[in-house]
Amino acid sequence: MTDDEQKAELIEAARKRFSGPVNFLLSAPELKFLPPADVPEIAFAGRSNVGKSSLLNAITGRHGLARTSVTPGRTQELNVFEVGEPAAFRLIDMPGYGFADAPKDVVRQWKHLVFDYLRGRPVLRRVLVLIDCRHGIKPVDREIMSLMDKAAVSFQVVLTKGDKIKPTELAKVHEATLGAARIHPAAYPEVIATSSEKGVGIPELLAAVLAAATGQ
Ligand code: GTP
Ligand code: MG
Repeated sequence: MTDDEQKAELIEAARKRFSGPVNFLLSAPELKFLPPADVPEIAFAGRSNVGKSSLLNAITGRHGLARTSVTPGRTQELNVFEVGEPAAFRLIDMPGYGFADAPKDVVRQWKHLVFDYLRGRPVLRRVLVLIDCRHGIKPVDREIMSLMDKAAVSFQVVLTKGDKIKPTELAKVHEATLGAARIHPAAYPEVIATSSEKGVGIPELLAAVLAAATGQ
């Protein structure tokens, strides 16, 4: 089988998997409220308003599943979704980090929750680190990436809101982001450019999530 055929097969398997049951399980304000660490987890991380919840909705094809908002800071807990019945794996919609206008103690609380989860969850297979293609990688993103290097947690960078800039510009950002990600030992050596709004990059992301969750 060629690489392209293998990719097409994985996308097809992922589509099937995500067209089956996907259910919201719970919101965890602290790690102790998470379900038992018994199936693989894939987490969506990134700065506030980068499009984590929208991307989760786009890959599950269910628009109201994760709550999205124009106001940064919509997601304040770890929202856990199960794929399959019984769950084959879970998707974790994380609170955004680096939201400058939020009260300091709220920011500290989010940061703790995000960092604790990223460092200490044994079933965490991969973190998708979302980067707004208009802003690129910021210092707070580098901080998270370094944390994952130290904790040896595999992560993949995903560009969001690709519909907001010109294709030529997006190609440049894609290249630059790949270069910046490669510095990190825990980074997966591919960056996926997406648009939840237009559905761009969603099949590739579906395949990446399924592969990470099932260890392919
Ligand atoms: P927090 O939970 O607050 O950290 O935000 P989030 O990262 O979950 O972002 P969310 O998905 O709520 O999206 C934030 C805003 O960006 C919403 O107004 C979305 O409609 C918009 N948005 C998300 N993805 C896209 C996209 O691909 N294209 C465009 N144009 N807008 C998007
Ligand atoms: Mg959100």
